[in-house]
Amino acid sequence: MPRTSKTKAKEFTEISEAQIAVHWKEEEYFQPPRKFVEQANMKDPNVRKRFGPENFPDCFKEYADMLSWFEPYHTVLDTSNPPFWKWFVGGKLNASYNCVDRHLEQYRNKAAIIFVSESEDEPPIALTYQELHVQVNEMAALLRDFCGLKAGDRVTLHLPMTLELPITMLACARIGVIHSVVFGGFSGQACGARIQDSGSHILISMDAYWRGGKLIDHKANADIAVQTAKETGQPVDKVLVWQRYPGKSSSPTAMVKGRDFIVNEVLKNYHGKRVDPVPMDADAPLFLMYSSGSTGKPKGCQHRTGGYLAYVTGTSKYIQDIHPTDTYWCMADIGWITGHSYIVYGPLALAATSVVYEGVPTHPDAGRPWRIAERLGVNIFHTSPTAIRGLRKLGPEEPRKYNYHFKHMTTVGEPIEPEAWRWYYHEVGKGEAVIVDTWWQTENGGFLCSTVPALDPMKPGSAGPGVPGIYPIIYDENGDEVPAGSGRAGNICIRNPWPGIMQTIWGEDDRFVNTYYARYCKNRRSKDWRDWPYLAGDGAMKAAEGYFRILGRIDDVINVAGHRLGTKEIESACLTVTEVAEAAVVPVADEVKGRMPEIYIALKPGHKNTPDVVNRVTRATETIIGKFARPKHVYVVPDMPKTRSGKIMRRILASISNRREVGDVTTLANPTVVEEIREIVQGKEAIVTTEAVPEDIAGFGQNE
Ligand code: WT7
Repeated sequence: MPRTSKTKAKEFTEISEAQIAVHWKEEEYFQPPRKFVEQANMKDPNVRKRFGPENFPDCFKEYADMLSWFEPYHTVLDTSNPPFWKWFVGGKLNASYNCVDRHLEQYRNKAAIIFVSESEDEPPIALTYQELHVQVNEMAALLRDFCGLKAGDRVTLHLPMTLELPITMLACARIGVIHSVVFGGFSGQACGARIQDSGSHILISMDAYWRGGKLIDHKANADIAVQTAKETGQPVDKVLVWQRYPGKSSSPTAMVKGRDFIVNEVLKNYHGKRVDPVPMDADAPLFLMYSSGSTGKPKGCQHRTGGYLAYVTGTSKYIQDIHPTDTYWCMADIGWITGHSYIVYGPLALAATSVVYEGVPTHPDAGRPWRIAERLGVNIFHTSPTAIRGLRKLGPEEPRKYNYHFKHMTTVGEPIEPEAWRWYYHEVGKGEAVIVDTWWQTENGGFLCSTVPALDPMKPGSAGPGVPGIYPIIYDENGDEVPAGSGRAGNICIRNPWPGIMQTIWGEDDRFVNTYYARYCKNRRSKDWRDWPYLAGDGAMKAAEGYFRILGRIDDVINVAGHRLGTKEIESACLTVTEVAEAAVVPVADEVKGRMPEIYIALKPGHKNTPDVVNRVTRATETIIGKFARPKHVYVVPDMPKTRSGKIMRRILASISNRREVGDVTTLANPTVVEEIREIVQGKEAIVTTEAVPEDIAGFGQNE
């Protein structure tokens, strides 16, 4: 029934949590397939009790015991300096030893990693644990002896999805060097900013890689990265360039004499070298992973060796159900946390075979992933809603053409629509695979909410309860708990520390405390972990049976295809175009990518709206951040809608972009501009949809 525009306006400006709930239909449950249950790693119906508050923090010994330690830990959790928790204190271990050496006796010639080139003419390359051991050792020797790197130094890796990336990461870990992997799709400038922040003197890159059928010149990005780092005060002494095709150069960009070195050549000097894995303190940093936040500056999430490795190993075993006999394929990029935890560290710690695929899922067609699964005998598959939507759109019936069988599938990174979930279950999983919808973040190291696959029924669109040992809670604005089944949304927090949580933001302890703990900490002096709930930054609801449904970000972060982008970062990129006076970025719903940024710009006086300005704004986002940040549209507007105090009202722009009612604008300093902007975006006739408003869009900019 059509609603009057008056009620609509009220609904969209003052949308309450209860009203959002009205749009949420309860979904039916799916039971895990019996065949899966029979072989599952975790079948104990009491597992959540075993990991319950009464057994906290000792329950996590179970994960630490999955690792090999050089020195045992004496204390499971040290909370003496909240919220800087310490895990497995006194213990010493090495991540490279745990992912490689310890498997040699039993699995020496089993494939550790299978690399699949995007180019379908090239056969897959299987790297055995033995071969991985050889290559990690030789690379570790090179890093130590040729680069002079030692434990605690940072190194930036800007590498594509090839074998060289996990080899380099494990080589760093072997000698205690902190790796900072920058997603290959980030621009040279974005990489340079991360080099600067981490204080890396060494950049490790590759000459080229395949993406969407093109051999991309990646070496060019290394030059820009070094330049950017230098301009911001961080000199880079050496650039190590791997060759995509060893023995031959695949990039037209010249090598800089004395600075750039071809890794494949230098490695010849380290042939057969072995490097003892350095025993690291459990709390020594293992890596940095940059992530966007509400401010323009990315946060270097610092992850520790012992707690992190224990947590990803435990969750890989119980939630991903990885056995050493499995062929596991996570289609994420190692340049994001999902790839660190669930392509490299977790699966390899469990001696699985992990697949690394170089290219885009739909290249050369939407049957590609299923051909790879068939050829390699993949039985565990892990991807994002964006990939699921894209594959469903281009090839809804492709999976049934291929003879593969998954026992287990994962979705991660964004909320998944129940429709897309059902396609994943019936088509991709052929009704044989269990699905876990895992909710977590770069900061968290590993899963926070998910069903335990053999124990909990699946519910499309809901991540599930906290995983064993994680006690999530939803707080309202006042810090009161929003109870399960209330139908109200709030801010999801985690009540307890866990081994996978980041240690701090690299070099920014205060920002760490303020971003994640200040909001709901009642007593800053308290040494009791119960007073330090972790704020995730997502809106969520808890159903009566305890399943969490994640609604999206509560801050100025846009989740594009499962990649976090800060609106401020994109806005500052726009402001580098000289004609641009003001820029505002809002999220807009997209059928495949979930959300995309849409940019509004106002020009300086005397400048005209030309296609050239618009193009340069788009290009600025690509060169400063990366192609994946490309906006859906750029609109040049006469002025931004502003409050009387001069604040840009992004909420109004988000409503226009998403075809929602803008609501009451009479209190603005310039109310008439709203209709002008609306016409630029939507045309003469107002377009308003009455569909349910996703919370991240409905709530976007509400805090301003
Ligand atoms: C944000 C974290 C570590 C996963 C990859 C993204 C959203 C993540 C889910 C899910 C709904 C999800 C949240 C979160 N998110 N997983 N299963 N259902 N939303 O890592 O870049 O750190 O982004 O992704 O909004 O806060 P990230």
